[in-house]
Amino acid sequence: MTDRLSSLWQQRYRTPLPEALADNKVSQSAVFDSLLTHRSVRAYLPNALPEGTIEAAIAAAQSAATSSNLQCWTVIAVEDPVRRARLAALCGNQSHIATAPVFLVWVADLSRLRRIAQNEGETHEALDYTEAFLIAAIDTALAAQNAVSALEAAGLGTVYIGGLRNHPEEIAEKLALPEGCVGLFGLCVGYPDPAEPASVKPRLPQRAVLHRERYDFEAEAEAEIIAAYDALDDAFQKEQGLPSRRWSATMVRRIATRAGLHGRDTMRTSLKALGFPLK
Ligand SMILES: Cc1cc2nc3c(=O)[nH]c(=O)nc-3n(C[C@H](O)[C@H](O)[C@H](O)COP(=O)(O)O)c2cc1C
Repeated sequence: MTDRLSSLWQQRYRTPLPEALADNKVSQSAVFDSLLTHRSVRAYLPNALPEGTIEAAIAAAQSAATSSNLQCWTVIAVEDPVRRARLAALCGNQSHIATAPVFLVWVADLSRLRRIAQNEGETHEALDYTEAFLIAAIDTALAAQNAVSALEAAGLGTVYIGGLRNHPEEIAEKLALPEGCVGLFGLCVGYPDPAEPASVKPRLPQRAVLHRERYDFEAEAEAEIIAAYDALDDAFQKEQGLPSRRWSATMVRRIATRAGLHGRDTMRTSLKALGFPLK
């Protein structure tokens, strides 16, 4: 068991397993094992998913916590290859959307609550506020990740598609989304192609992300942590046959200018057009 745990930890952080984890119950479960082996899969076999797979994944998704039980998300399962190809084009021509047998579109959905209020003859002014959009976005992400965990534990592969937000209005139109709905991200689902295996990508050390009692920032210590992670990430890139890089420089390029948003700098306008006033 500890060997397995050491190997999971090693793959994720590329450091030895801390002693405290060896006997900790949280790290002993099959769920933990599956979570730590997550990697995004972008190469799929053409095999269809067995009957009931989507419904099982959605049951996992609906089992996630949801703010005040509002349940303000909807998922659209797209299997039709022609429709998937059209969506792939709208999401930055990502070919895995066309090759994975199923593409799940995760939708922040305030329209259902609006309809319920209208049917009751009531107002729904709280839905116009940024907080309502945030609730829907948070709940959608929590639900999707539950589905991912269930699918991965069964040997399926997935990759999230933020490219779905490249053209929010066109996506809404293609999928006949009512007002008060926005596609937040897609999710390709399928059997990983063993000829193109994906690897576990190392993450920042916990010292970077886990603080205790208060935000614990010290410039020199953080610079050291980031430099060490840059080296780890570069080693991973080389192992994968990918170009050498500094992770921090790549991330900085991404956030340096508005252009780094690749056209998504108009998101607020799109959200308003789709029925989220964001007051
Ligand atoms: C919300 C979200 C959107 C993403 N969008 C894309 C995408 O459009 N295309 C893609 O190939 N990967 C996408 N990814 C996958 C990330 O690139 C990937 O999770 C990250 O590089 C870490 O790699 P790993 O998942 O293999 O650990 C997305 C991930 C998330 C969480």
